Amino acid sequence: MRYGYFDDTNREYVITQPDTPLPWINYLGSEAYFGLISNTAGGYSFYKDARLRRLTRYRYNNAPLDMGGRYLYLRDNSSGKYWSPTWMPTRVRLDEYECRHGQGYTVITSKLNGIKSSARYFVPLGESLEIWQVTLTNESATDADLSLFSAIEFCLWDANDDATNYQRNYSIGEVEIVPLAPPPLPAGEGQGVRAGEGITVIYHKTEYRERRDHFAYFACSEKLAGFDTIREEFLGAYRGWNEPVVLEKGVSCNSVAHGWQPIGSHHVKIQLKAGEQRQVIFILGYHENPRDDKYDPPGSQTINKKTVKPVIAKYLQPENVDQAFEALRDYWTALLDRLQVTTPDEHTDRMVNIWNAYQCMVTFNLSRSASYFETGIGRGMGFRDSNQDLLGFVHMIPERARERILDISATQLKNGGAFHQYQPLTKRGNDAVGTGFNDDPLWLVIGVAAYLRETGDWSILDEQVQYENEPGTESPLYEHLQRSLQYTLDRPGPNRLPLIGRADWNDCLNLNCFSDEPGESFQTIENKDGKVAESIFIAGLFVLACQEIAGIAGHRGDQAQIERVRNASADMEKTVWAAGWDGDWFRRAYDDFGRPVGSKENAEGRIFIEPQGICVMAGLGADAAPSSGSGNAVKALDSVEEHLATPHGIVLLNPAYSQYYVHLGEISSYPPGYKENAGIFCHNNPWIMIAKTVVGRGDKALSYYKRINH
Ligand code: GLC
Repeated sequence: MRYGYFDDTNREYVITQPDTPLPWINYLGSEAYFGLISNTAGGYSFYKDARLRRLTRYRYNNAPLDMGGRYLYLRDNSSGKYWSPTWMPTRVRLDEYECRHGQGYTVITSKLNGIKSSARYFVPLGESLEIWQVTLTNESATDADLSLFSAIEFCLWDANDDATNYQRNYSIGEVEIVPLAPPPLPAGEGQGVRAGEGITVIYHKTEYRERRDHFAYFACSEKLAGFDTIREEFLGAYRGWNEPVVLEKGVSCNSVAHGWQPIGSHHVKIQLKAGEQRQVIFILGYHENPRDDKYDPPGSQTINKKTVKPVIAKYLQPENVDQAFEALRDYWTALLDRLQVTTPDEHTDRMVNIWNAYQCMVTFNLSRSASYFETGIGRGMGFRDSNQDLLGFVHMIPERARERILDISATQLKNGGAFHQYQPLTKRGNDAVGTGFNDDPLWLVIGVAAYLRETGDWSILDEQVQYENEPGTESPLYEHLQRSLQYTLDRPGPNRLPLIGRADWNDCLNLNCFSDEPGESFQTIENKDGKVAESIFIAGLFVLACQEIAGIAGHRGDQAQIERVRNASADMEKTVWAAGWDGDWFRRAYDDFGRPVGSKENAEGRIFIEPQGICVMAGLGADAAPSSGSGNAVKALDSVEEHLATPHGIVLLNPAYSQYYVHLGEISSYPPGYKENAGIFCHNNPWIMIAKTVVGRGDKALSYYKRINH
């Protein structure tokens, strides 16, 4: 079954059927305002932080799937029939449907009974708002009497509270519904139509009366026939978004929300002659006011709209919207132009030139904090993840990569360790998840090295950066990198391999957790003192990081540092050959009993992908000249081919764990083949591809690449 195809010329993926097996989603926004959007207009929006500044509601794991979004309804007022031009939420069968996911925008086009609709969703550069540009065309032979309704459900900002704390949040919702511009001046006093005249804007201002200085707004370019902001009035009691009572009647209630569930819905009446076309623009945005200038007039409870009104007025003009869209297209063209390849393989060209780069930018923006299975509540941005992601986008946005490096490194602990995650809004380490994932700090070295290699901006190493965001603790970034290495050196295990801590790259290999309690977090519970379990993966990463630091130190003429890291690296290599090599591949770890993990000695989980990739990338066993371990790199990668490679990518380990092992942790909590228990992870498959190039097997690297990109 095919649901779509790539349109390389337009750099779009085109979906040709709305009922895809799962929602196929895209991401809107590139700086501060972001949204997730599915092929049927599902999803939600937020400002900077999917947890702390959520604009609209979305209910995960719902039935039907993908409820909550940027909804539109069209109603044929002569028959009373209504439908959704993006298919959801009414799921009325459309005569035509097409969704185009592009870079930072999505266009959903459909047709029913001769009424064509095209909705283009995007976030203009430099703005904290999204635009829904809707074009309606009457392609039938008869005139049409239509109503267009919009519908969103406001989230009360903190997405976690919003989904759980009902005793409070049923009682705090507030909106304002006010004209954008004052009423027309008496005849003779004004000239022409002023921008925004006749336009009514819905403002969502829950908690604005107290500690919030921000609010959301939802505006429409047309004069309204009505509006709604109370969910139950719009939907009707016990009804879903698929059958709002307002659509049935064709009349809005003009409801003004107080408490309960505030929504935003506009109603526009549109007469379309046969062949006629009309454009309607909706904007949903986020705005902040200075704390001491929140109200207008001062002392009232009315939002000061002085600075937001010009923004709204601007983007209700089609020319400005078109211009903003072109600017977004140009921005992406410029980004993607930084690296374009022509190869004999069209899949490789398409992925390298467009989609891999696009995905890297999405991870730069959101890390893994918000997606269709990551609610945006559970985690912020990963320390490891963000550093890793740098490698994928540093060539496109070096200036922002620099800023990201400085933000991340300012969360580093004084002992060189790292908070596992940090909140994008506050840029502070996340206490709830804490520290102790012992590979984390080393990724900072890898990220900074990638930045230096790309930009040659050595000045970054002298930037004064705090530890734990604590004023007065500033030291040059160069020292942060050294502390990262020191963190590993300070934690040798019984075999002199690095102690693993809570976990390393594989968040679910929790060798110090030993959890018997249902529901306990595998990541934050440590029941062991952590002085035994070791990681060969971290050992490989350490050797790689040492090489990077040696190069950096060389550039700075820091001879002492070069010596130090060379020695440390050579020692670690020796340790790996003594305790980390299993005969045909690298072992994965040692558990809390000092027994190997990822070894022939194990009945399950005999071989893991991670150490094969990272150790060979670090050059371990890749020396042609006879030396300790020479030839082992090829051997390890042959073992990957034999035991881990599948036509759909390389699995994490083999054989999968068939039962829960308390000493291994979360990894064995998943049924075989799921997630870290032998699933396929696109982001460590490339380590094997790179490793293959290290041993001169580019052909095989390409074959692996195509398995996950084809
Ligand atoms: C997820 C996490 C990443 C981790 C990986 C394997 O992708 O974001 O940090 O390395 O899973 O557990």
